Amino acid sequence: EKGTYPYYMLKEIDEQPAVMRNIVQKYQNEEGRLTVPEDLVTAMLAADRIHIVACGTSYHSGWVGKHYLEKFAQIPTEVHVASEFSYNPPLLTGNPFFVFLTQSGETADSRQVLVKVKEWGYPSLTITNVAGSTLSREADFTLLLHAGPEIAVASTKAYTAQIAVLAVLSDALGAKLGHDMGINMVRELGIVATAMEAVIDDKERIGELANIYLPNTRNAFYIGRGLDYYVSMEAALKLKEISYIQTEGFAAGELKHGTIALIEEGTPVLAIITQANVASHTRGNIEEVRSRGANTCVFAMEGLAHDNDQVILPAVHPALAPLLTVVPTQLMAYYATLARGYDVDKPRNLAKSVTVE
Ligand code: F6R
Repeated sequence: EKGTYPYYMLKEIDEQPAVMRNIVQKYQNEEGRLTVPEDLVTAMLAADRIHIVACGTSYHSGWVGKHYLEKFAQIPTEVHVASEFSYNPPLLTGNPFFVFLTQSGETADSRQVLVKVKEWGYPSLTITNVAGSTLSREADFTLLLHAGPEIAVASTKAYTAQIAVLAVLSDALGAKLGHDMGINMVRELGIVATAMEAVIDDKERIGELANIYLPNTRNAFYIGRGLDYYVSMEAALKLKEISYIQTEGFAAGELKHGTIALIEEGTPVLAIITQANVASHTRGNIEEVRSRGANTCVFAMEGLAHDNDQVILPAVHPALAPLLTVVPTQLMAYYATLARGYDVDKPRNLAKSVTVE
């Protein structure tokens, strides 16, 4: 039930800190360490390459998952759009392992790949919010998101839950390998939950920014680099699918190779800055578009923020920044859509789970 909330989407955005804490609790063992089943660890560490397969928002969390699997577990990882993989599979190595990311566990495009993978005899894991769903039943392993039912068509808490579970999984694999990645995942996910709360408590301010930057615009851009680029793709999807503002998520450095031609007086460009190694480069890209008339709005993490940035996010571990930065972008999409008078929870042409290919 959405209770006092006007829309499920806002309720589900609000639930994200609790979902983060719930995931920690569900994956914690008696000694307080985050664990996944031992046979899953063994199967994944035997792989020479991991293939993440997903659609839409789940595909976007897959990119963050690739970062974690490569950084924490040191296994080369590829991310695939399911409908592309089906008809144009990549050249596979000897021991691939497949990870299906699907909130509903019912997405036909993803299932089609799982059916093939099983025919080929390769091991698979489904990460899903729905216990007993088709992709959960058909894969060798399942990890649950523990996010509670997601009703709004636009996915919010399932995205952050997927990223958190991928972080837990990658951390567990890294621990088994004896890597000290210098991250206390239990502690850092707790810090993320608290930081999410601070952003959500300040939601009215994001509503004001949506009114300043997004009214009467036909198009918009989100830009970032690295993990901030992956969040930009998701932020753009969220904004376009419910507000119908044509939005692209772009690697900040790539704009100048063509797309910058679309920047004109007043074009909104929303930039995400949380990664120290690329922060100054993204700042440079912001200047490039600003000098061509863009209306720039900067979401930056404390420590990398400038005083006049529009949104300054509390500091969290940089690897977990996507969990936090996506929240104000979800709120931007929500408020921009409210202002346009559309049904936030039921965008046109879309269904909650896509069971046709
Ligand atoms: C966007 C959205 C969709 C889904 C996609 C995959 O907000 O919800 O892009 O992410 O249809 O759905 P699942 O994760 O259920 O396989």
